[in-house]
Amino acid sequence: MKLLVTGGAGFIGSCFVRTALTEGWAKQVVNFDKLSYAGNLENVAPVAEHAGYQFVHADICDAEAVEKALRDEAPDAIVHFAAESHVDRSIHSPAPVIQTNFNGTFTLLEAARRAKIARFVHVSTDEVYGSIDAPHDADESYPLRASSPYSASKAGSDLLALSYFTTYRLNVSVTRASNNYGPYQFPEKLIPLMISNALEDKPLPVYGDGQQVRDWLYVEDHCRAIRTVLEKGRAGEVYNVGGNCSLPNLEVVQRILRATGKAESLITRVTDRPGHDRRYALTNAKLTGETGWRPQIDFSDGLQATVDWYIRHKAWVERIKSGEYTRFYELNYSGRAG
Ligand code: NAD
Ligand code: TYD
Repeated sequence: MKLLVTGGAGFIGSCFVRTALTEGWAKQVVNFDKLSYAGNLENVAPVAEHAGYQFVHADICDAEAVEKALRDEAPDAIVHFAAESHVDRSIHSPAPVIQTNFNGTFTLLEAARRAKIARFVHVSTDEVYGSIDAPHDADESYPLRASSPYSASKAGSDLLALSYFTTYRLNVSVTRASNNYGPYQFPEKLIPLMISNALEDKPLPVYGDGQQVRDWLYVEDHCRAIRTVLEKGRAGEVYNVGGNCSLPNLEVVQRILRATGKAESLITRVTDRPGHDRRYALTNAKLTGETGWRPQIDFSDGLQATVDWYIRHKAWVERIKSGEYTRFYELNYSGRAG
């Protein structure tokens, strides 16, 4: 199988590209990525010399570049990860988020329709369901109640992708995963930020009361789910992908401090995120029932593996922190001390 993967230089996309090629279930992978602040070719260095790997440096919003890649490469399937993926950035600067996540997805769908691409997986998020009161879990028919520009742009792109099935019979499935963690995650998201700050003895900024609940999914489990949906998912269907691991943020941060051997005094309460969703929760019953997929990595093992990876890859983190990272960090956290 020949895949065109958008956003393959990011956190989850790079895991998908690495595993598809090293496990050998995809013969060729074209990584189509514009290398935004979150895109990093170091993430795909382990497969850069693989005979089946190719990189196209381009933007999914550029219709000509997308059409050319589909014409030249003629992939059997598209797996679409490329996005502006950070809620806080979407609050500070929504325009690029809407541009890539909604308009970019439209450009890609339209090119896929014209090129008659046989299969398309649109990678989305449980955040499209918004905050869910306990004890309820969202299934795939749960209403979309996005709270942030990020989640609204993803919800819009999900509907657009599904409309391409309904209207044009493009063979599209949508996945909605919970919060991912694991190696190579840009240190702006909760887990890698807290690990890297703890390793540097810097404050760990917990938003509000820290009792917001997220469901945690190890990135390799997510990538296996995407492969499963690619191969076995039904067209026009949405599949939730959760980790069966709901935890309040404060407990995640405390576990990181224990895993890194650092003191709880590093925890700093800061002003809450505007529009902060209190709880995400979803059921995997559809994906598990139809395909047998289930998450395999237990949170304790996954977190330890992640902490170990960040300890071994301090130089990777340092290179990121020497870029525009610091400017955004100051914008997001200054004046927020609680
Ligand atoms: P990431 O921010 O780590 O990587 C995004 C990648 O997309 C980068 O390589 C970036 O260069 C590329 N990109 C951004 N804009 C682009 C554009 N206009 N054209 C081409 N490439 C572009 O993101 P991630 O955490 O790996 O998330 C990947 C996908 O999974 C996203 O669609 C996200 O919404 C979804 N998702 C993420 C999570 C999570 O916890 N991180 C959970 C569920 C779903
Ligand atoms: P994040 O990793 O940004 O993912 P998302 O907002 O997409 O769920 O945040 C996960 C949770 O952690 C969310 O409730 C916000 C919280 N959080 C903090 O408390 N402090 C931080 O510095 C960050 C980045 C997140």
